[in-house]
Amino acid sequence: LNNGLALTPPMGWMSWQRFRCIIDCDQFPDECISEKLFKTAVDYMVNDGYKDAGYEYVIIDDCWLEKNRTTDGKLQADKKRFPNGMKHLSDYVHSKGLKFGIYEDYGNKTCEGYPGILGHMKEDAETFASWGVDYVKLDGCYSDIWDMETGYPEFGKYLNNTGRPIVYSCSWPAYQEYAGMKINFQLLVNYCNLWRNYNDIQDSYSSLTDIMDYFAMKQDYWQQYAGPGHWNDPDMLIIGNFGLSYEQSKAQMAVWAILAAPLLMSMDFRTIQPEYKAILQNKNIIAVNQDKLGIQGRRVFKDKDIDIWARPTEPIVNGYHSFAIAFISRRSDGAPYKYNATLKHIGLFNPAGYQIKDMYLNDVDEFKMTILYPELPLVARIPPTGCVFFRAKSLAHTEL
Ligand code: DGJ
Repeated sequence: LNNGLALTPPMGWMSWQRFRCIIDCDQFPDECISEKLFKTAVDYMVNDGYKDAGYEYVIIDDCWLEKNRTTDGKLQADKKRFPNGMKHLSDYVHSKGLKFGIYEDYGNKTCEGYPGILGHMKEDAETFASWGVDYVKLDGCYSDIWDMETGYPEFGKYLNNTGRPIVYSCSWPAYQEYAGMKINFQLLVNYCNLWRNYNDIQDSYSSLTDIMDYFAMKQDYWQQYAGPGHWNDPDMLIIGNFGLSYEQSKAQMAVWAILAAPLLMSMDFRTIQPEYKAILQNKNIIAVNQDKLGIQGRRVFKDKDIDIWARPTEPIVNGYHSFAIAFISRRSDGAPYKYNATLKHIGLFNPAGYQIKDMYLNDVDEFKMTILYPELPLVARIPPTGCVFFRAKSLAHTEL
């Protein structure tokens, strides 16, 4: 969507993956979907380095609404859990230099049964703008998949007509994909800043690998539609929650960077362990994700249960891109598995060579002096279900 927004993949925090539809604030005061939860998220974003790392949007997912609209048909936040209303929360988010996102559904009801936008599209867009919303995620439960290609663009027009810059996240292709339909990606590029392609992520390694495999299977079709202002969205980061080990978390961050995926965290800021936080804040990896060229990478091949993913990035030198290269192990045997990948086999042909650095090592600020040429192997030792992630910076002159 050419609205000047999301020129790089959006980064932020979204409540769904970790906090779902917990609405019982008496029993779970720290976890329920409430003003308090989002203010806490804002404070941690600012005070714990996430904002400085580039995370910007604080996004409310499902379960923020009252069960009914007001008597004059307006959306209203749950009065008990958001006692000061959404404008108040939005002002709080903005006062800390962050941006405010909200969730609705293109249907009669949201997936969790709260009022949907059908029949109220124009007024809801105006309501969001009046609250200072900067990002709308529009889900697709309880709606007709055959209406989505007209309905989602229509709502987008109302958002645009408000005059407020609002990132528009569309869930419609995920529902069409599930129904086995052919998806009109040109429409998505024209009308949405990002879109969910596939199933919801769950808090497990098997869910993560399922999504990675599905994106790899579809990449010849999907990859071309990603770019500045319009992104494929493989769903939230589950790093820092219950289901992924440290190595598996490194793998998700690497593949999401290669896929030019939105980086939408969804963990509990109060309990995340430092080493997981370091993955989420790894500035070299975030730089790959946010690369200005906005080219979505791909799984270039798999061999011996090692998947190699690569993404072309800046700087381009003498016509040769730099690259990010992830070795993702799908093995579960034992010792780190040593794999040699010849550069030209993963698409690196610059005769002047590449300077290589490992993005998960501590010396991440300096490109190591390792220089490799297209005929030479890039060597990695990848822990079981883990990841080794390299940056290969394209060089101008052969350095021998
Ligand atoms: C389905 C979406 O895909 C999820 O990301 C989440 O928004 C839930 N609905 C909320 O009900």
